[in-house]
Amino acid sequence: MTSSSFSRRGDIASFLAMDVMREANQLQQTGQNISHLEVGQPSTKAPRVVLDAARYAIDSELIGYTDALGLDDLRQALSAYYHTTYKVDVAPERFVITTGSSAGFILAFLACLDAGQRVAVTAPGYPAYTNIIQSLDLTPVTIALGQENNWTLTPDDLRDAEKTHGAIDALLIASPANPTGTMLSKQALTELSLDCAHAGRWFFSDEIYHGLTYAQEATSALQVGDHNRLIVMNSFSKYFSMTGWRIGWMIVPPQMVRVVERLQQNLFISAPTLSQYAACAALTQSAQDELQKHVELYRHNRDKLIACLQDKGLTDIAPADGAFYLYADLHSLSPSLESETFCAQLLKEAQIAITPGVDFDKNRGARFVRFSFARAANEIDLAVDRLNAFLGLLR
Ligand SMILES: Cc1ncc(COP(=O)(O)O)c(C=O)c1O
Repeated sequence: MTSSSFSRRGDIASFLAMDVMREANQLQQTGQNISHLEVGQPSTKAPRVVLDAARYAIDSELIGYTDALGLDDLRQALSAYYHTTYKVDVAPERFVITTGSSAGFILAFLACLDAGQRVAVTAPGYPAYTNIIQSLDLTPVTIALGQENNWTLTPDDLRDAEKTHGAIDALLIASPANPTGTMLSKQALTELSLDCAHAGRWFFSDEIYHGLTYAQEATSALQVGDHNRLIVMNSFSKYFSMTGWRIGWMIVPPQMVRVVERLQQNLFISAPTLSQYAACAALTQSAQDELQKHVELYRHNRDKLIACLQDKGLTDIAPADGAFYLYADLHSLSPSLESETFCAQLLKEAQIAITPGVDFDKNRGARFVRFSFARAANEIDLAVDRLNAFLGLLR
């Protein structure tokens, strides 16, 4: 069978960070000790109370399907969490429990957009956005961000993009962002979300890195936006340290709940039940106390890695105010460096896995690389020693 036998929709780019992880894991199996700075996943387990809740659920619950929208207890706990964390009142009925935020994107796009409609995303940005958009026969409109606009999007950028591409039907944005870690100020988020509401455009706010912030706390679009044009996606993967549990949530306008319920019933039936029971415990104070220690660890890792990179000449790094990534411009070290070659060499010669910038920005990513610092402190210390030796030879 040739590749032309398959659909155009399936012909999307691979998620390079995942490819690098596969290669790094293969090297690890041959006995090498690899520094895993390629994928954005915590090396910590889920909080203790979450593990206890999962064990208890296995012993005492059926673990059958749940209602398509999710367990009532979890939706109520999330509503209370928003009240405490963001001081916003969102009815539990508006929460939809999803199989990670990844499933949330699919549900939101299918619920709001028809084939061919345009979704604006940024470059650099999370690679799966564009790939999911394309696989659903939607049209991505990529808006370039860089040092020149402080790595953040404004309504003027949207207007400029519309002049070239035509009306934009939805905007998908994350703050803190992947791969930069850069955050939108409350003012900037307000302007963007209101601009979308005025233009009749959907505003999809990916808030997966909320909780992982080092300067100011992140604003939720729910605090500043028009709830009728706004979909918030979030997940237990990052701050809650539960990537493999495949559990997330979205908040949708009241009139959209039934649309998403029908889609979820048919596409996924419901999100993983064991993970839903466990996730209820992730929202308790005991879990939060444990998770706050992770944030301090990431801050330590971030500062250590930035100091190492800057000392060795990688001085252009996007402002990493949140998430757990550094997006660095290799040209600050040497204009002849190209990221895929650099990453391959770093893996082979220094046993450090990182991700080439082309994963996040097809056009300009060849000069950037992304470091993830979500690992234990001793792993980051080893990576820093290795980087010092490797980069020292390049200068
Ligand atoms: C910005 C962003 N959104 C969404 C996801 C998907 O996360 P999940 O499906 O585990 O919730 C990721 C994963 O790295 C991400 O970086």
